[in-house]
This record gives sequence, C-alpha cells and structure tokens, in this order.
Amino acid sequence: MRLNITILPGDGVGPEVTAEAVRVLCTVADAYGHEFAFDERPVGGAGIEQAGSPLPRATLDACLASDAVLLGAVGSSQYDGLAASLRPEAGLLALRSAAGAFANLRPVVCHEATAECSPLREEVVRGSDVLIVRELTGGLYFGEPRGTEEDGASAFNTMRYTDVEVERVARVAFEAARGRRNKLTSVDKANVLETSRLWREVVSRVAREYPEVAVEHMYVDACAMHLMTNPRGFDVVLTENLFGDILSDEAAVIAGSLGMLASASVGGHVDIYEPVHGSAPDIAGRDIANPLGAIASAALLLRHTARLEQEAQDVEAAVRGVLEAGYRTADLRGGKGRCIVGTAEMGALVSDAVAELADMRHAYHAV
Ligand code: IPM
Ligand code: MN
Repeated sequence: MRLNITILPGDGVGPEVTAEAVRVLCTVADAYGHEFAFDERPVGGAGIEQAGSPLPRATLDACLASDAVLLGAVGSSQYDGLAASLRPEAGLLALRSAAGAFANLRPVVCHEATAECSPLREEVVRGSDVLIVRELTGGLYFGEPRGTEEDGASAFNTMRYTDVEVERVARVAFEAARGRRNKLTSVDKANVLETSRLWREVVSRVAREYPEVAVEHMYVDACAMHLMTNPRGFDVVLTENLFGDILSDEAAVIAGSLGMLASASVGGHVDIYEPVHGSAPDIAGRDIANPLGAIASAALLLRHTARLEQEAQDVEAAVRGVLEAGYRTADLRGGKGRCIVGTAEMGALVSDAVAELADMRHAYHAV
C-alpha cells in the first residue's frame, strides 16, 4: 500500500515523539512491504518562526493533499501574552477546522503492565477501556462572536451547536459503541446550558437508530468524578469540544500518564492523528518525553486511514510487549525493577518489537 503522510512535528516535545512514531511507521513499511512517503512541514510556533503563521498556507495545502496527517504538539510559552488567533494553538485549531475533522477519538486504555503507574488504586483502573469521542470543530472553541471589549475589562466566547453538528458526531460514537461493548455515555450540562439540551435531544433521537446500544446521559461534573471512581463503568463517552478536552486529560490518569494517550480526528477531508498531550516545553529536547502516545496515534492511522488492521494490532502489541518487559519512560511511575529509558530508546524498542512480530508472522505464513 502507498500512503502519503504529512508530518507536523510542531513545538516542544512534538519533534521528538513524532520522530519515534515515524520510526515505527518506517519499520511497518519495511516489514510488510508498504510504501509510506513522509512530507514534513512546520505548524504552531515552528510555523510562526519559519513562515510567519501558526498554519502556513503551504502546510495546510500539503495536509489537505495527503492521505493522513501525523502531528506532534503545538504551544510555546514564548507566545503566552498574544491574542488567541496569533498563538501556536490557533494553527492546530485552524487545521482541524479546515480539514473538517469533527470527530476526535481518544481511546483510554489501562494496560495490565502499567496499572501500577496510575495514582488511582490498581483494582480501580485495571481493565479500563474507554473511548472518548470529542466533538472537535464546534462549541466554545469556534463559536462567534468572541472577543475582548475595548476597555479590556470584559471578554466573551460563544458556545453554539447546530443539530447537524451534534448528529454527525453522535453517529460516529454510536458506530464505535456498536463495534465495542454497546454502551454509550453522552456527557453534557443540560441542567444549565441550552446547547446541552439540544445535545441531549439530538443524541436521544440518534439513539433510536441503535437499539442495541445502551445509552445514558450524564452531567459533565458527575462524569468527571465517575471516571475516576469507576472507569470500567464506561465504554464510549460522547461529548462536546471543551468537555472532551478536559475529560480526556483527566482520563489519562487511568492510563498512567498523559504521555500514553493517542487520538484520531476523523470525518473530514483528511484525518489527523496526534497524541493527546501538549508540547511540554519544560522537558523538550531532553530525550525524556514519552513517545507512546505518538506511536499509538500512528497505530490509529494504520487502522483508520490505511485500513491495515494487522499492522495496527502489531504496533499496539509491540507497545504492550515493551511495557510488559518492564521498560518505562520517566513519566510512568511506580514498580520495582523497572528500566527507565529515554524517548529514542523507547521508540527503538517498540520498533524492534514490531519487526520481530512481523518476522514471526512471515515465518508462520511460510510454513
Ligand atoms: C488537545 C489540546 C488542544 C485543544 C490545544 C493545544 C489547542 O489541548 O488536543 O487536547 O485544546 O484541543
Ligand atoms: Mn487538551
């Protein structure tokens, strides 16, 4: 299979973790005889520095012309004082919007080997497997009007949703639930917000088309608590943009570290894959960032865009194998006799494990 992938390393630890995801993709290409072409472009702070914009035209054009986008992270404290539209983050938001990638899938899995890494009790997190489906191109992030009054003493944003926006992301979530454990929790704040009442109405309507899926509605504040006390009680969590942003960082506690989480933004002209974590400027350039979120994002790319299920599973199995062998990056705490490795070494370990799995598979097919 031939695949054109635009690589957007971005800022902070973005380039380091993206390099490891690319390394793993190259191993997959070699081992399975695929041809992946990578085109690297600046975005975020790197875009501002190299081309005067957080989303340079040439970067956007390259993304829209490719089969998939793999992004590292954006954000830099250097731009802290600036208006939202001039910050590195604006580049990522503009890309999501231009791509039309309205559904953001964020799987949160507690691996058996890293249950010990969560600050929550092991018996609470063990076996957790939640898929957060976050609406990505609407809500407070994009609603108009927005701004700051001239006197600087008041500012405003708009939470706006249309039935069409809710319905299309709800469908993605119901389809996902159908392929999993047939349970969907729709999260809103319908006791306070009009947008949430609309959300609930539309989700309930779509639910009638999926009678096999058990649906519950939950307020976001309650959900934040239940996710920590009973994560196994969740299968698919469907929610709007800002709630999903907050809940997914919180849910990282279940996986042991924010560095573990991957995401796929789908439904538009081109799919965007990125780890859930940010640019973490405080640890950038030190070879200590966890590349597993980026690598798991590459696995999602193989599954959703390339439809290479076997390859995706091999990457995921390689990650599990490396963790089971006791290797950890510094963010994964706990456990005696664990071997702490750097970003590049973790990437190399996963890559070698992928090659080994592929070899075994080829040997098996040869006999
Ligand atoms: C995320 C990030 C982004 C978001 C930022 C960098 C704009 O936090 O992908 O979760 O808020 O969506
Ligand atoms: Mn976030």
